[in-house]
Amino acid sequence: MVTKVIPLFDERSSAPLPRPPAAYAAPSGTLLDTRGRAMRDLRISVTDRCNFRCVYCMPKEVFDNDYQFLPHTDLLTFEEITRVARIAKDHGVEKLRLTGGEPLLRKNIERLIAMLARLDLDLTLTTNGSALAQKAQSLFDAGLQRVTVSLDSLDDATFRAMNDVDFPVQKVLDAIAAAAAVGLKPIKVNAVVKRGTNDHDIVNMARHFKGSGHILRFIEYMDVGASNGWRMDDVIPSAEVIARIHAEFPLEAIDPNYPGEVAERWRYADGSGEIGVISSVTQAFCSTCTRARLSTEGKLYTCLFATQGHDLRRLIRGGAGDDAIGAAMAGIWSQRGDRYSEIRTAQTPGIKKIEMSYIGG
Ligand code: GTP
Ligand code: 5AD
Ligand code: SF4
Ligand code: SF4
Repeated sequence: MVTKVIPLFDERSSAPLPRPPAAYAAPSGTLLDTRGRAMRDLRISVTDRCNFRCVYCMPKEVFDNDYQFLPHTDLLTFEEITRVARIAKDHGVEKLRLTGGEPLLRKNIERLIAMLARLDLDLTLTTNGSALAQKAQSLFDAGLQRVTVSLDSLDDATFRAMNDVDFPVQKVLDAIAAAAAVGLKPIKVNAVVKRGTNDHDIVNMARHFKGSGHILRFIEYMDVGASNGWRMDDVIPSAEVIARIHAEFPLEAIDPNYPGEVAERWRYADGSGEIGVISSVTQAFCSTCTRARLSTEGKLYTCLFATQGHDLRRLIRGGAGDDAIGAAMAGIWSQRGDRYSEIRTAQTPGIKKIEMSYIGG
């Protein structure tokens, strides 16, 4: 365990830093960044490939037949991933989330899950659901605890247009049912809302999942990557999402499950469950961001919007021991000052951003 003293000044700006939020009054020995945030989550991208071409993530014009995905030799092996996760656990990580691209496209993903499950951390995965129905049982048997399924619309034509590979909505609904049946619960359903594309379906989605036990979350469309042609006009603020649903099904705000939870939680006043909104554009949550990201090729990123990662694979394949890798991780995290969503717009035009399909959702 590395002991880290919280610096009182950000060396780059020399402006005094705000005191860390009380939630991050971490036990001594916990690794903290320059803003007093602990490293609690590791999001692991296991492939940069996906069989969908969602318009907000992997638009077809960019991710076409000529697009160069990573060669297999560049990918971290399951042993390498598990080693990084184990070392991250030693530095305070409590939650692992497998992402992609589409993580279920990675061959033998169940083997990786079984290896990670032995670390005894919260272990989950974000999937587009296309292969989930077939794999639900084997994923559960391997030790996966729960899943998050991306689903942007229940309107078949809209869904097919958004995934842009003509994938039918019913198959994702079947996958959600299959996952629930084997015990991968609670299931969270993530919908990215893009104005004029799927916002007409917000209330209908709420109606569908109300009372199902699944937790539907609406995500503000983000300016992640450099391919999706993001414009602020396309963002539906979460407040508008809540207002539209509240008009039909009265809602009440509820407390987060844990400090720094990304989704703001709302419950139906009639007791039929809850929904969430993720407002990284209109209400940034950087001040409590405890997420580190490991890219498919083994780079550690300290922010979804970081312009570069730190190459752990070079260290690993160069024969570094656990201590050296841990020290590198500690050094990277302790210098972290990222808060992109808080400072976007004015201060961040034209930075070279990493694609979400590469760094993980
Ligand atoms: P659990 O509480 O473990 O279920 O997960 P979560 O609430 O962290 O949600 P999840 O990992 O499914 O993230 C949902 C979405 O929130 C992602 O797909 C992103 O769109 C967005 N998101 C998650 N983490 C970040 C982050 O660190 N920064 C920003 N800007 N967006 C994020
Ligand atoms: N804005 C918001 N969320 C996004 N995702 C991908 N691209 C974006 C974006 N531009 C997230 C979605 C999806 C997950 C895989 O990545 O939550 O469900
Ligand atoms: Fe694939 Fe998910 Fe990106 Fe859609 S959002 S293209 S399903 S990685
Ligand atoms: Fe965390 Fe960066 Fe997202 Fe802010 S923008 S919440 S620092 S990943």
